[in-house]
Amino acid sequence: MSQPGEGLTTTQAPFIEEARSAGKKFIDQPYDLYSEANQETWRKLYKQIRPTWDKYSHPKFLEGVQKLALPPDHIPHLDEINRFLEPLSGFSARAVSGYIPAYYFFDSLRMRAFPTTITIRDGSKLDYLPEPDIFHDVAGHVPMHTDKQFADVLVRFGEVARSAAGFAAEIKDHDVRIQKLESVIKAMARFFWFTVEFGLMRRPGGGKNDLCVYGSGLLSSHGELEYCLESPRVQRFPFQLEWVVNQYFEIDHYQPLLFIVDSFDHLFELIDELERWMPIGKLGNVSPGEPAVNEEDLESFMNAQVGMTAGA
Ligand SMILES: [Fe+2]
Repeated sequence: MSQPGEGLTTTQAPFIEEARSAGKKFIDQPYDLYSEANQETWRKLYKQIRPTWDKYSHPKFLEGVQKLALPPDHIPHLDEINRFLEPLSGFSARAVSGYIPAYYFFDSLRMRAFPTTITIRDGSKLDYLPEPDIFHDVAGHVPMHTDKQFADVLVRFGEVARSAAGFAAEIKDHDVRIQKLESVIKAMARFFWFTVEFGLMRRPGGGKNDLCVYGSGLLSSHGELEYCLESPRVQRFPFQLEWVVNQYFEIDHYQPLLFIVDSFDHLFELIDELERWMPIGKLGNVSPGEPAVNEEDLESFMNAQVGMTAGA
């Protein structure tokens, strides 16, 4: 049994190991388990990033931080976050034990539930993130979920995933179905990566070259948040769907290539376009490379298809 204060440190939390081995994906947030070291890690991360947010983040993100009353001095209780969040956009942050296979992840978004990691990174390696943690998920993602328009974008991702499952179910030949599905999932994952995780946007009311950040991978990294807009080593291009769905990415270093959307309306239109491209075969052979689509991801889409057929 887990003990109060023993810690919920990423990759070192017995509570999470127990939940995973019991096959539990959605869990509670056992708040008493956070150690003083965990709380100190949150405080340091928040203090370090706060001025960087003020300078580089999208105004809606800053509004979100305020609307959620995101605490600087302790790890947030998800219940408290949700009390502020749900009335604003219908979204809620739901604690998970770790990785959620792709279809279930997107389908959760469709139902306005955001799978949320509750562990926090090791305080001795603040900039090292072996997997998402609560700072990435709650401080990086959730403030954007307070915005209705952005929340609707996430719901659209879930709908596109559903379309993808339906599209794959129509393909009779098993091998062709797997190949096409793998390609479509890769395209969706790349789209998600270059928007929700690492997206740049023209600053509302700003000049032509005035950019801000709405992507959560950037908004939860003090170092990369500045680097992504200031460094001459980063290439920043207007978002082009053909390019993005064919562009591999690597997760273990600062991103060298980022894409800019004009507005949330623009982002919404791009997702519509992504969905339209599926049945006309434009996502069926995207370029190979990262991200890998694993067995669990594929199965999650295949099982969704079985569910849909059974329910039809
Ligand atoms: Fe993320």
